[in-house]
Amino acid sequence: MDALELLHQRRSMGKLAGPAPAEEQLDAIYRAALRAPDHKEMTPYRFIEFSGEGLDRLGELFARSDYQANPHIDEGALDSARKKPKRAPMIIAVIATITPGLSKVPPVEQIISAGCAAHAMLYAAYAQGLGAMWRTGTYAHDKTVWQGLGLGEHEELIGYLYLGQPGGRYPDAPVRNPGDFVERRR
Ligand SMILES: Cc1cc2nc3c(=O)[nH]c(=O)nc-3n(C[C@H](O)[C@H](O)[C@H](O)COP(=O)(O)O)c2cc1C
Repeated sequence: MDALELLHQRRSMGKLAGPAPAEEQLDAIYRAALRAPDHKEMTPYRFIEFSGEGLDRLGELFARSDYQANPHIDEGALDSARKKPKRAPMIIAVIATITPGLSKVPPVEQIISAGCAAHAMLYAAYAQGLGAMWRTGTYAHDKTVWQGLGLGEHEELIGYLYLGQPGGRYPDAPVRNPGDFVERRR
């Protein structure tokens, strides 16, 4: 696949089947992440990879987070939280590791860099025929989850990348006209 074709055609895939990405595919995905634009070479990100029982433990953490938010929650809702990570054979949590107090590289730049790393990972997955989807939602912004995952004081979870084999047809890409987004000053 040619580079521009990849940039123009990439799509997310929410329906994901096993097996999880192979080691070489993961290596290519992480290498793509590590090429994200990065002011002052901070490499302001790290990744936690979940598969197998790791996904079950992540589901338990999601359920715990729901329980802490609402101790009256019913068992069915807790069970549905437990199952959330099983929508894919692998999840990679992308964490922004922020160095505070840098006037030239404020936190927002470091978070953007981590976001670029996540985006590059989606491209690397798609280029290898894998399906991938960036998800956030409650469990991405919840302190119980952050604590359970061991995030530090200056870390933020910016998303979960769900990865696996594409389990369905890719929807057509929305047709957008670049002219609607660009103002040219010449
Ligand atoms: C930061 C971020 C968080 C997202 N969170 C969710 C989410 O929780 N659930 C969801 O269905 N899509 C979420 N999306 C959108 C999908 O990942 C995806 O981009 C969208 O469905 C459009 O598909 P496409 O990437 O093929 O254009 C998120 C995207 C970003 C950038």
